[in-house]
Amino acid sequence: MIINDKNQNNIISSELINSYDINYVFNNEPINRVKNTSNKENKYDLLNNLRKKISNINNCELKKNASQLVFSDGNPKSPIMIVGEGPGQKEDQEGKPFVGDAGKLLNKMLESIKIERNKIYITNVVNYRPPNNRKPDPSEIMRYSIFLKEHISIINPKILILMGSTAMESLFGSKIKISKERGTWKEIIINQKTYLTMITFHPAYLLRQADQKKYSWTDLKEIRKKIDKLDLKI
Ligand code: URA
Repeated sequence: MIINDKNQNNIISSELINSYDINYVFNNEPINRVKNTSNKENKYDLLNNLRKKISNINNCELKKNASQLVFSDGNPKSPIMIVGEGPGQKEDQEGKPFVGDAGKLLNKMLESIKIERNKIYITNVVNYRPPNNRKPDPSEIMRYSIFLKEHISIINPKILILMGSTAMESLFGSKIKISKERGTWKEIIINQKTYLTMITFHPAYLLRQADQKKYSWTDLKEIRKKIDKLDLKI
């Protein structure tokens, strides 16, 4: 909405600015009248708010059947963020992502390109264990993708790694195939910010399909190359 003052000058209302989905506040000081607040907000507060929002989800079959919310692991300030599918039995017990067999393989995969697991940030598409470890259904993936996008915006990684078709589907939709899309750098825009993204196989899939590990290794080397090229501190 544009409000005209007596001198017919256009004054942009806060309502209009807020509709752009950018975090601005009005400040009555004569200079810096419009200030961007996004950097000032504490990442840890934002993560806590997101965790609360997820824990308040209603009518969710995943939440009803799980023993607890599994939010994330690792360093929120990391330039690298990994997204898996959803907690399994061990993760559900411990409240941490990737602590079971798939997690052990993930640790090895990271070690193979000289990344310490505690130096990166890890989360999942869904934050409650699906019953009997079933794949989250499309409506669940869509519902939780809103939280995932917020999560990515808060962490603001330089490299986003999507492990498995569920993570891929959550952000790129279900029309593409992981076997075709893995291994190449893509850009995804989330809340007006572009993230460099690599889709690769999920460690649980590699445990079942050992012959696919060679592709995973190619992807890991590509990720290492990019970390070096961007001179990321991890
Ligand atoms: N598989 C996932 O996708 N996430 C976990 O946390 C564990 C296994």
